[in-house]
Order: sequence, then C-alpha cells, then structure tokens
Amino acid sequence: MELVIDGVGHAYDGLQVLQGIDLVVHDGETLALIGPSGCGKSTLLGILGGLLQPTAGAVRLRGQPPAGTLNPFTYVFQDFALLPWRSVEGNVSLALEHHALDAAQRQATIDEVLALTGLSEFRAALPKQLSGGMRQRVGIARALAAKPAVLLLDEPLSALDAQTRDLLLEDFERLWALRKVTAVYVTHNLDEALRLADRIVVLSRRPGRIREVVTVDVPRAARSVAALASLRDRLWRLIRDEAASADREMALAHG
Ligand SMILES: Nc1ncnc2c1ncn2[C@@H]1O[C@H](COP(=O)(O)OP(=O)(O)O)[C@@H](O)[C@H]1O
Ligand SMILES: [Mg+2]
Repeated sequence: MELVIDGVGHAYDGLQVLQGIDLVVHDGETLALIGPSGCGKSTLLGILGGLLQPTAGAVRLRGQPPAGTLNPFTYVFQDFALLPWRSVEGNVSLALEHHALDAAQRQATIDEVLALTGLSEFRAALPKQLSGGMRQRVGIARALAAKPAVLLLDEPLSALDAQTRDLLLEDFERLWALRKVTAVYVTHNLDEALRLADRIVVLSRRPGRIREVVTVDVPRAARSVAALASLRDRLWRLIRDEAASADREMALAHG
C-alpha cells in the first residue's frame, strides 16, 4: 500500500501555501517533512489525512490497507489533543468507539497499545496527572490503536523539553522496529528527521514546493552523530537558504 500525492496545491482565500506537490509515500517507510515555518507542512498533513480538501490535485491510497486497519489515517499532534476529563484508557478507547469491535477485541487492542507505549500502569490516570512526555505517549497509543495505514505526526515532540524529546525518539525507534509503520513525520528539527526517516522531503518557503528529497542511506542502528554528519550538513544548507530568504522577504514586506 502506498500513499500517492498527485499535483497537490492549496490556497487559503488567495494565499497560495502549497504548490505542485508530487510524492509517493512507500509502504512501510517514514517520510519526514521539513521546511521553514509557514511553508504549508501542517496544511499538507491535513490534506493527506482528509481533514482538508486541496484546492489542486488529489491524494489517494494505492493498494490495500493492512489487515485490521480501522482508520486509514490517524494523527499525533504537537499539543497531544487529549480529552482532559478522560483517563489514559478512555482517551485511547476513543479511537475505537465508532468501530464494530466486541468488548474483548476492544480491550485486547487497548492493552496492546498501552503496553507498547509503556502506559499499562497509568491506564486510570488523567492527562493532568501526567508529564508532557507521558501525555504524548497517550497520543501515540491512541493513534496506533486504530492500526492506521498511514500515521501522520505533526511536530509531535516540539512541545517537549530536550531530554523528554530524546526519550520519545527512542520510543519511536523501538516502535518502528516492533511494528511496520508507514508514517509522515512533520518536524522543524533536523536531528529528529535524521534519526527516524527513510527519506526527508525539504520544502521551500511559502508557497511550499518540494525543494529536494534526501534519502537517509544509513541503517537506523548505525545512525550516530558522526555517521549522519555529512547528510546533516547538506540538509542544514538547504533549509538555511530557505529560512534566510523567507526572513529577508519578511523584512522587505515590513520595511
Ligand atoms: N485555516 C487557515 N486560514 C488561512 N490561512 C491559514 C490557515 N491555516 C494556515 N494558514 C496559513 O497558511 C500558511 C501555512 O500554514 P501551515 O500549513 O500551518 O504551515 P507550517 O505548518 O509549515 O508552519 C501560513 O502562512 C498560515 O498562516
Ligand atoms: Mg505546522
């Protein structure tokens, strides 16, 4: 199963934010999406999951979603998007409520994703009783519960401190190794992209177009800082140019 993005563009009331996006997300790959703030990354993710209708082009799944998929697309958001009055288990079960599962299947799925994300002992806790990192684990558990064909993550670690971010990056690596995941991971953090992605799509400043697609040709287990250094350099030069010209444009517009 692949996700095919065909000539996608988007404008909000005449403001063109995305243009001519052609891309295929391959089965089982993690695609990272990086680019300057405001270049349309969240817009593209919304289009991929069907939250937003693109003003040009189309997105489709090619092939069959994996067996047991309840929702073809699920999201993990920067701000976790948990219901504060529901327990950890209650938030996860939300993803299963509109599906024809019997009680035993539902419970088995919940137990499985809570175990995967290290939340089994916290099932009765409310979000406010948890740290940011644990809250985002709930967001991840909820997204996995529906066994999505494609997992869509919008800067999932950006609200967390550096240490927590590192812990969750390790969680992602572990999850990715345990389960086959097809994912689109939006971030403005190069190091996250380099750790998790198979390919990194660099978008230009607004209107976002594909500037370059970089393959991370280092096996996940061998992704040390040293092994990634030259790729990181290349990516940094690409996004640095884009960020700098976006910045100059802003200065001119306001000057
Ligand atoms: N609902 C909306 N209505 C109008 N403009 C929007 C809307 N959502 C986003 N934008 C604008 O579109 C541009 C791209 O936004 P977004 O996709 O959130 O970028 P990114 O996630 O890359 O920072 C920004 O200039 C933003 O202000
Ligand atoms: Mg965004």
